[in-house]
Amino acid sequence: MSLRLLTLASTVTTALCATYSVTENIVGAGFYDAFNFEAIGDPTEGRVNYVDKATAMSQNLTFASGNKFVLRADSTTVIDDSSPTGRNSVRIRTNNAYTTHVAVFDIAHMPQGCGSVLADMASCVLPPLISNLPKLTNADYSRWETDEANWAAGGEVDILEGVNDQGADQVTLHTVTGCTMPATRDQTGTSLQLDCDHNVNGNAGCGVRVPEATSYGPSFNANGGGWYAVERTDTFINIWFWPRNAGNVPADVKSGAASVNTDSWGTPTANFPNTSCNFPQFFDANNIIINLTFCGQWAGNPDVYAASGCPSTCNNYVNANPSAFVNAYFEFNSLNVYH
Ligand SMILES: *[C@@H]1O[C@H](CO)[C@@H](O)[C@H](O)[C@H]1NC(C)=O
Ligand SMILES: *[C@@H]1O[C@H](CO)[C@@H](O)[C@H](O)[C@H]1NC(C)=O
Ligand SMILES: *[C@@H]1O[C@H](CO)[C@@H](O)[C@H](O)[C@H]1NC(C)=O
Repeated sequence: MSLRLLTLASTVTTALCATYSVTENIVGAGFYDAFNFEAIGDPTEGRVNYVDKATAMSQNLTFASGNKFVLRADSTTVIDDSSPTGRNSVRIRTNNAYTTHVAVFDIAHMPQGCGSVLADMASCVLPPLISNLPKLTNADYSRWETDEANWAAGGEVDILEGVNDQGADQVTLHTVTGCTMPATRDQTGTSLQLDCDHNVNGNAGCGVRVPEATSYGPSFNANGGGWYAVERTDTFINIWFWPRNAGNVPADVKSGAASVNTDSWGTPTANFPNTSCNFPQFFDANNIIINLTFCGQWAGNPDVYAASGCPSTCNNYVNANPSAFVNAYFEFNSLNVYH
């Protein structure tokens, strides 16, 4: 069968209903092929030292088995306060970039902090963990760090984020000026700020609070994790979350099927319609990025950190307490991308 026929067929199908076919089934060591390791200075100024692939593998900061991919931060080394960087960690970015697509993340564990003294240290130290970001060339990186507008021009979709917050995940879009969300939307989550403009309110973005407490951190992990899914088209972005044992996990999501029909997935957790945001104007082709940093511009903000009730300063805490990061790891069962 020719590729052209397949493409045509899927175009027609997409017009009629939201059926997508798998283009990438990323499992275990497949993460090493699909993602590039970014040993760069953290753009969010976190207390991390992003290592390259060889270092990550030799220090077991990434680990692949037949059906698992683990990505973690160092949890054994005390960092000198005078070190210019911070705790070894990993930041990976897909080689492919995506516009219209569906991505389903089957996650068994997400990073959380120390368990004993503070139940949810993750809330002290972790900014967004999984994002869709514009594809950048090497030349863009240096500009990006100094010119935030350049970054925001391609749009950012934060799928997993939470800080200074004992509970649920927040899903957020960040754009340049001109993209806002209506107050009333067809979603199960709660709308937060409606303006996606990164210039507004310290780059808060237009966020939606996920209703399930099991969507983030220790509660997510204790529950066996779950699925996050994104559907992006030219006219909307939808995000769903299903806890591991929820009764409403769609069969195609649960089984990692070769095709998925988002029309059968029910009301999304977060709905970003194009009512007053022209998506092709505000969002480029984006990479999927998985990063694990500590402190930095958001979590390490002295006011945010102090309000969280966490000890010491964020950087000092991260430096001095490696064992607090034993559970600072992602464990992925799979990442499936559909077009
Ligand atoms: C590396 O990490 C994996 C996943 O956490 C673990 O199962 C394995 O035992 C670790 N290997 C070593 C040598 O520590
Ligand atoms: C991940 O990277 C994106 C872009 O640099 C950033 O917005 C986000 O805060 C980072 N999160 C973590 C945990 O590093
Ligand atoms: C939203 O999408 C609809 C349907 O494709 C289109 O007609 C409309 O112009 C879009 N609105 C904006 C603000 O981009």
